[in-house]
Amino acid sequence: MTARTTVQAFFDDKTWTVSYVIVDTATRSAAIVDPVLDFDFKSGRTHTLQADKLIAHVREHGLTVQWILETHAHADHLSSARYLQQHLGGRIAIGERITQVQQTFKKLFNLERGFLPDGTQFDHLFQDDEVFHIGGVEARALLVPGHTPADMAYLVDGAVFVGDTLFMPDVGSARADFPGGDAHALYASMRRILALPPETRMFVCHDYPPAGRAPAWETTVAAQRAHNIHARDSIGEAEFVQMRQARDATLDVPTLILPSIQVNIRAGQLPPPEDDGVSYLKIPLNVIGRAQP
Ligand SMILES: [Fe+2]
Repeated sequence: MTARTTVQAFFDDKTWTVSYVIVDTATRSAAIVDPVLDFDFKSGRTHTLQADKLIAHVREHGLTVQWILETHAHADHLSSARYLQQHLGGRIAIGERITQVQQTFKKLFNLERGFLPDGTQFDHLFQDDEVFHIGGVEARALLVPGHTPADMAYLVDGAVFVGDTLFMPDVGSARADFPGGDAHALYASMRRILALPPETRMFVCHDYPPAGRAPAWETTVAAQRAHNIHARDSIGEAEFVQMRQARDATLDVPTLILPSIQVNIRAGQLPPPEDDGVSYLKIPLNVIGRAQP
């Protein structure tokens, strides 16, 4: 990365999520990537501890938030995009294929008629290869489907924010078994990212460190091509797909998938309150996960 931009990471140790603030130092314009809304499933209560750290950072450094970027509709944490926008401004953006994800989950959750799966909950929908700007810095949105059909990576000034398409070299890749996920597509998306210049800095959205290693979130294209346990250059598509599908078949449904998806396909907005003024989340019974053997 040139001296033009800085990246500050914020790690949430409850969901293993890394959020980022990218700053164009010349204009003090900023983009926030994948912000977390804390959620206690037991009580159904949201908190803003993580989001408030981002707000404090933005205010302390006198930044103007232009973008709140989501790499995808996350299944493991709720997004604080809407809360941040209320406090900091900025446009909430995601990939245009979010409409497919909204259609799938509108049906799965039997959402209210007023929920339109047309992406209008977001301020901007990125097309593949779309160029945008953070202050004076050019950035590019890359469609990288596979983990979900709508995943995007964001390429900014020699750094790529890959969401869940790749994890750290010793962790590998994300699952591809959610609705609309596809291991073949994920392989192609990983190769697309790994075709960037070897020195490209890479920032991942989660880290699940093996025992004995502290959480980490920054690597490079070169390191991934040499060492990633799922995606190094020597691993071909057939080998990857077989490994990914076998592994996915053993994974539990993520703890927060039901609340996360219902909030995240609304761009971080809670469902509309019912006639008592309270927002509710739904739990579809016997719909997702594996049937009893
Ligand atoms: Fe994800």
